[in-house]
Amino acid sequence: MAEPPVAAPICPPTTDNISRAAELLRGGRLIAFPTETVYGLGADATDDRAVAAVFAAKGRPRFNPLIIHFTDAGAAAGQAEFNRRADDLAQAFWPGPITLVLHRGPGTSISLLASAGLDTIAVRVPGHDIAQALLRAAGRPLAAPSANRSGEVSPTSAAHVAASLGNAPTMILDGGVCPVGIESTVVDLSTGEARLLRPGAVTRERIEAVIGPLGASAPGAVRGPGMAGRHYATSRPLRLGAKTPESGDALLAFGPDVPATSGPTLNLSTAGDLEEAAANLFAMLRNLDRPNVAAIAVMPVPEHGLGAAINDRLRRAATGLADPEPTG
Ligand code: TXA
Ligand code: MG
Repeated sequence: MAEPPVAAPICPPTTDNISRAAELLRGGRLIAFPTETVYGLGADATDDRAVAAVFAAKGRPRFNPLIIHFTDAGAAAGQAEFNRRADDLAQAFWPGPITLVLHRGPGTSISLLASAGLDTIAVRVPGHDIAQALLRAAGRPLAAPSANRSGEVSPTSAAHVAASLGNAPTMILDGGVCPVGIESTVVDLSTGEARLLRPGAVTRERIEAVIGPLGASAPGAVRGPGMAGRHYATSRPLRLGAKTPESGDALLAFGPDVPATSGPTLNLSTAGDLEEAAANLFAMLRNLDRPNVAAIAVMPVPEHGLGAAINDRLRRAATGLADPEPTG
């Protein structure tokens, strides 16, 4: 037998390649594809074996539930129980980077393994042309976590996927750099009180403008296992809120006033723009995560708007907290 390739082929998103990728998905194979947030490792969401292969490829310590991607809200409504708030958020933000946790629909064909055995399902309609073309060509929903091994930062380019997952995907569709760069916001609408499970690309402020105040995410009752403390780790330690780097540190700067340093420096956004910073976050963390660096000093990032999601990812990478147990 021939040696397996070291990394999956990175393919331009031509019509032919998208049809081939769709056919491979229907045959139970995994395809990495770009979304507006980060690259996803896609599998046919109705195929338990394919979903199991996703968990294996990511090396997830346990079965965390996956986000199911659809072409549109109508397709999602066939698999999940929408309620008024879900309709309103879908109307306001889809296609786009928000994920809704709802009860599984009575006749759903989505793999129970993709829900990690929970009675809920996380649904999302991505706002990216290649993701949409692939969903249409596949003709079925795709379960797709971020296309990285568990514990690594999410990939925002095809090269990141190849570096992280090798040949686990059969093909990587290349859409260039993901425009948003940080994962979708996850909102739990499956109980009486809407709650933010994972801060993300759509800010709390924008969600509350549509459905009113979100409840507090109760500590100890984490329903989004992606809330696990250490999920976005770099191999070098992170020092958050750093005003000045120490010798041997790399500096991840933010804003126009950058302290002088001899170590490698990258700036999330010289202009102090939080959207630009979100788009740069994972690629810059990867770039500065070098063996000869003592630590990565990260300048303070304001907590408002997208800063909440950026700081959430930075804190998870820095703290090394044990994973909280998911409920259910
Ligand atoms: O932007 C994104 O959402 C990317 C792209 C590829 O779409 N996907 C992504 O997937 O970030 P993943 O698997 O890395 O994160 C899924 C998040 C986790 O926090 C997980 O715990 C939560 O969604 N989640 C999924 N299903 C859930 C459920 N039934 N109940 C609660 N949380 C759920
Ligand atoms: Mg992830």
